[in-house]
Amino acid sequence: MRVLVTGGAGFIGSNVTKLLYNKGYEIYVYDNFSTGYINNLNSLNGLKIIKGDIRDKESLESAIKGCEFVFHLAAHIGNVKSLENPVEDSEINVLGTLNVLECSRINKVKKIVYSSSAAIFGEPHYQPIDEKHPQNPDSPYGVSKLAAEKHCMCYNRIYDIDIVCLRYFNVYGVNQRYDAYGNVIPIFATLLLQDKPIKIYDDGEQTRDFVNVKDIAKANLMAAEKQELSGVFNIGSGKSITINSLANMMKNIINKDAEIIYSPPRKGEIRHSKADISLARDSFGFNPSDNVYENLLEYIHWLKECWER
Ligand SMILES: NC(=O)c1ccc[n+]([C@@H]2O[C@H](COP(=O)([O-])OP(=O)(O)OC[C@H]3O[C@@H](n4cnc5c(N)ncnc54)[C@H](O)[C@@H]3O)[C@@H](O)[C@H]2O)c1
Repeated sequence: MRVLVTGGAGFIGSNVTKLLYNKGYEIYVYDNFSTGYINNLNSLNGLKIIKGDIRDKESLESAIKGCEFVFHLAAHIGNVKSLENPVEDSEINVLGTLNVLECSRINKVKKIVYSSSAAIFGEPHYQPIDEKHPQNPDSPYGVSKLAAEKHCMCYNRIYDIDIVCLRYFNVYGVNQRYDAYGNVIPIFATLLLQDKPIKIYDDGEQTRDFVNVKDIAKANLMAAEKQELSGVFNIGSGKSITINSLANMMKNIINKDAEIIYSPPRKGEIRHSKADISLARDSFGFNPSDNVYENLLEYIHWLKECWER
């Protein structure tokens, strides 16, 4: 079966592509390589890679022709980047997603799996965060991801296309680079490997729900393969850990007794975040792995190899 992965050369997209490849799908990757890397796809022989932009409807439409599923991950990413360029953020995340929806509708795509984000929630009012939690995003990025979700669900209601929106919490794992929008795990790993101190904002007792990218890839596959599934689902590990515990675990894995420097809290940072994943579990069997230590170990090995190449 032929499928299209937009943003397939990126961190998460390349992991989704790899899983689909191993399952025998015929995959077309559609990516403008603005933040994606061809190296992420090197081991996958026979993959069809199209260099294109989701804002270019004509090119996108010819790429989608003949595909049964579309996994839509291409995006302008991150709260900080969206504050610097909110117009481009919406052009890619909202209008680009509308192009994906329109081209899919015209070409009778059976299912779209859209990568959304926990950034759509803004400041949490309660934990764990379920799908019904109020949605008041605090950045243009969060707004654009929410607007795209709304377009997805509107297309689902008015046209005969199954559409699943997966709201990821804090994703980490192989193919995630240091330049990835200030994500804490690549930053800590890089600093530790360079024998540098780690900087923690606030007292380090803030919590996050870190979910491994292999679980994200599985969620995409399961959501696509579950017949007649549509809707919006939170995708995290369902557990949260403090930034202090994360730092200590990583110090332990890398075997470095780095100094931790505490800095005042950053404006706009939420204190706690934990996903309620029961809807995804009950609807399509999502069951994330429980081995943070092994997943971090795998990631650190990959990062070291990456530098040695
Ligand atoms: N990384 C996270 O923690 C996280 C959390 C929540 C949601 N998400 C969502 O997951 C998806 C993938 O994110 P990622 O972390 O892998 O980021 P990434 O930057 O590694 O991947 C994005 C990919 O999209 C491509 N791209 C960007 N703009 C494009 C355009 N206009 N046309 C075609 N391709 C384009 C990039 O080149 C890149 O390969 C995004 O939709 C993002 O909003 C990520």
